[in-house]
Amino acid sequence: MTHPPQNLRIRPYQDTDADDTWQVFRAAVHGTASRDYSTAQIEAWAPATVDQTRWRQRRSSAHTYIACLETRIAGFSDFTDEGLLDMLFVHPDAGGRGVARALVTHVLQEAAAAGHQRLRVHASLTARPAFERFGFTVDAERQVELRGQHLRNFAMSIRLDS
Ligand SMILES: CC(C)(COP(=O)(O)OP(=O)(O)OC[C@H]1O[C@@H](n2cnc3c(N)ncnc32)[C@H](O)[C@@H]1OP(=O)(O)O)[C@@H](O)C(=O)NCCC(=O)NCCS
Repeated sequence: MTHPPQNLRIRPYQDTDADDTWQVFRAAVHGTASRDYSTAQIEAWAPATVDQTRWRQRRSSAHTYIACLETRIAGFSDFTDEGLLDMLFVHPDAGGRGVARALVTHVLQEAAAAGHQRLRVHASLTARPAFERFGFTVDAERQVELRGQHLRNFAMSIRLDS
């Protein structure tokens, strides 16, 4: 198991994190997920511009958590009231050091404390091995259409201890 760096801190999302989380999302998709998806698919997933209002709304309407290394945002994750882990993105500069594990461990604890018995995720090809390491199992393979592109991902889930 990868142990997260000692200076890693997980905290709740604040509205002032909107731009940094967008930058981490873009960097993670273009820098890491690009090994598993075509350029056209990556552009469709994380285009150059975003509807900032919608991005803000989605981050603050979920239970969103930020991973900070010193003062920099290294990654973020969340869960929704519907029991979906919607986002897990780690900046490529901070990849492979246990940041995702720390985030997902925190999200699983918070989701269980909120009364969820199961948490679902739509895992990318890139993230599937990490989710398997965290104990999620594959329920189905999916094809999603995004801005005219078809992307393969996996419906996965994990049972939570209450
Ligand atoms: C997937 C992602 C979040 C992982 O973040 P990370 O901080 O590098 O992951 P960690 O260092 O915490 O590693 C998590 C575990 O997964 C394992 N892992 C990660 N990628 C792996 C791979 N390709 N094959 C095998 N194991 C892998 C690690 O070894 C580690 O296992 P361990 O803790 O038991 O040792 C990151 O690569 C990312 O942002 N990817 C692009 C965006 C994306 O696809 N997001 C998911 C959307 S659903």
